[in-house]
Amino acid sequence: MKKNFFLSGLLIIFVSLTFSAFRAPFFALNNSNLPVAGDSLNQDLHQIGQSIVKEGFQVLGSQLRQAIEKGGVPYALNFCNVKALPLTDSVARKHHIHLKRVSDKNRNPENAANEQELLVMELMRKAGTGKKMEMTLYDENGTATYYAPIILGVPCLQCHGTPGSNITDENMGIIKKLYPDDKATGYNQGELRGLWVVRFEK
Ligand code: HEC
Repeated sequence: MKKNFFLSGLLIIFVSLTFSAFRAPFFALNNSNLPVAGDSLNQDLHQIGQSIVKEGFQVLGSQLRQAIEKGGVPYALNFCNVKALPLTDSVARKHHIHLKRVSDKNRNPENAANEQELLVMELMRKAGTGKKMEMTLYDENGTATYYAPIILGVPCLQCHGTPGSNITDENMGIIKKLYPDDKATGYNQGELRGLWVVRFEK
């Protein structure tokens, strides 16, 4: 049976949806008629979510670049294995929120998307490629969660692209050793790789 986003019972209010490239208004999403609540508190949390994700992206991205420069992809794979989660946690602690990266095709078992996150990814995929859709949702306890898409770029292909062409045999060997259940290969540039998730615990 196909899951219905609105009947999931978990997500009750859609705060806002933005297309970061050109900030089209909410109704630009033509295949949806989601309710929207736009008071200033909701707006604030959405913007705080955006800035936290920007910081997380910068922290992880700069460390990844440095690791590749230092010891190439093999070194960077081991670096990510040890450092990706602690670096993400350090941003979370600084802002007193919960922060994670999740995917429907996760590498680290800790990063598997839950049911809500899978639904958010489905909605983002439906919105179409080229649109960067972000959203803040509330659960029934009033806890807000901000979601931002993670889109695959060219530099990501050497660890998340196609084995044999983008990913060398040596690097694939390291990936399999570190992550026997890895699902995070076979991506093309521009694909939705996963989500940043910022949870504002009350
Ligand atoms: C040097 C290899 C390497 C490169 C380059 C790389 N990644 Fe990863 N990626 C990894 C590893 C290793 C993990 C698992 C980290 C962990 O254990 O927490 C990971 C995890 C992730 C996750 C978390 C979800 C999951 O599957 O565990 C996302 C999202 C992600 N990468 C996206 C990207 C994006 C987007 C890029 C390009 C900007 C990128 N990666 C570039 C190696 C890489």
